[in-house]
Amino acid sequence: MTTIVFFEPDGTRREVAAKPGESAMEVAVRHGVEGVDADCGGVCACATCHGHVDAAFFDRLPAMNETEDAMLELVEDQRAANSRLLCQLKVGPELDGIVISLPGVKR
Ligand code: FES
Repeated sequence: MTTIVFFEPDGTRREVAAKPGESAMEVAVRHGVEGVDADCGGVCACATCHGHVDAAFFDRLPAMNETEDAMLELVEDQRAANSRLLCQLKVGPELDGIVISLPGVKR
């Protein structure tokens, strides 16, 4: 089982389980995590699944493609070096325990 720790915008910590093959966005939506709207349904066309990935896991992520990079420009004011679109992150066992903070998080 792969576990993801989300910090919702108000700072609430949510530890949830991923199913094999799910993206971090799908996991968040299925568990009702606040701060992940996923308006486009996961086709990398809205940037409403933006999150900040904890440094300990960031280097283990697949490389960002040009489309994701361009979409992140939509959230330029919230973008950071550890920004990713959660629909582009499949969460396998290698990412067990990954910590993702949603934009605006206060903790
Ligand atoms: S859900 Fe739209 S870009 Fe990720």
